[in-house]
Amino acid sequence: MSRATVRPGRPLRGEASLPGDKSITQRAILLGALAPGTTIIRGANPGADAAAALGIARALGTVVRRGSAGEIVLRGGTFREPERVLDARNSGTALRLSMGLLAAQPFLSILTGDASLRRRPVDRVLVPLRLLGADLSARGGDRLAPVVVRGRPLRGAEVETGLPSAQVKSALLLAALQAEGTTVVREPAETRDHTERMLPLFGVPVRRDGLAVSVTGGGSLHGTEIDVPGDASAAAFLAAAAAIVPGSDVLLRGVGVNPTRRAFFDFLVRAGADVTMHDARDAGHEPVADLRIRHRTLRPLEIGPAEIPGLIDELPLVAVVAAFARGVSTVRGARELRVKESDRIASVAAALRAIGGAIEEREDGWSIEGAGRLRGGSVETRGDHRIAMAFLVAGLRAAEGVTVDDAAPAAVSDPGFLPRLRKLAR
Ligand code: S3P
Repeated sequence: MSRATVRPGRPLRGEASLPGDKSITQRAILLGALAPGTTIIRGANPGADAAAALGIARALGTVVRRGSAGEIVLRGGTFREPERVLDARNSGTALRLSMGLLAAQPFLSILTGDASLRRRPVDRVLVPLRLLGADLSARGGDRLAPVVVRGRPLRGAEVETGLPSAQVKSALLLAALQAEGTTVVREPAETRDHTERMLPLFGVPVRRDGLAVSVTGGGSLHGTEIDVPGDASAAAFLAAAAAIVPGSDVLLRGVGVNPTRRAFFDFLVRAGADVTMHDARDAGHEPVADLRIRHRTLRPLEIGPAEIPGLIDELPLVAVVAAFARGVSTVRGARELRVKESDRIASVAAALRAIGGAIEEREDGWSIEGAGRLRGGSVETRGDHRIAMAFLVAGLRAAEGVTVDDAAPAAVSDPGFLPRLRKLAR
């Protein structure tokens, strides 16, 4: 465990760039491993989740090396039956996407993860994959990892995912591009669309029609080059920091502003922060921009079910920001947070209370009475990277600062988080 403390200091000033997007990096690694030929990934996320995806690619026989400028170079299309259990560690994306990736491969794979990941559901992927003819089973009545995948030929199908999850959708698409015929995946609400944007770069056409995505198998998948934009979720922590600390004025460069990922910045605007977008550009398959965030007095907000998929990873941070707005904010329809890296509804409620916040925990969210300030104190991160980072941000504006029992989980998505935050506050 590595304790860390953040205390109030100067306003945040200056510029920062972000690590590459974690979701996009993991998709690029897994697709690059599957696709024959060479795939070059520039600006990959340096965190532990992406390393877990790379470990899986290697265990499947993919040759991986670093290019001279730090890029990841994969020689794909050479899968062989792995000799050992594939370990997705803390990464739900690596685990669930690999289930789809491996379902059509002509061999047996066993996938698992760390203690946190082994508590998170996999039936959401396993059950719809069976509609394509996949043969998977899992512990606890097919609910939990380890997962056993007996790869076999798949056939296209029409699938309703039943829940808004980009991991479920992406796992199905990875299986679909190896299946015979066409697969249509329909989700109940829009989720991040990085897989749909990336597949054409690998030679796989994608049809999109409202909330339905279709892919036809048997195409000519090939290696490609990917530029990974800055991680919008990593940017959200710095943006929140600038929004809550009076006098702050920060420029975040090269942030991915995909409409399915930028809801937190819209939330900050609605809460009264001054957020402006500059130099909007297209980084190949994903939109990118520089974001300037200036502190303003914040007002409370209501977040309802329709906004949850777009804000899913930023909800702990929404709670922290709400604590600094004067008045009652509510978050509803976020039951999904109970099955993230920790039970984030409970983790956030306990952590915010521990630093003097007034928060009421509901089954599917919180009600937070912001007072414009917090006392500070010590917080348990429960091994969850986003809890660690959200409450270190809170320390910038909490009278006594905030100590987290373990800041190490931040390295899951952003190993450079604390130095970057401290540099802006210097
Ligand atoms: C992700 C999708 C989301 C998100 C996770 C990354 C992805 O999960 O919370 O951090 O890379 O597709 P769900 O699909 O479970 O909502």
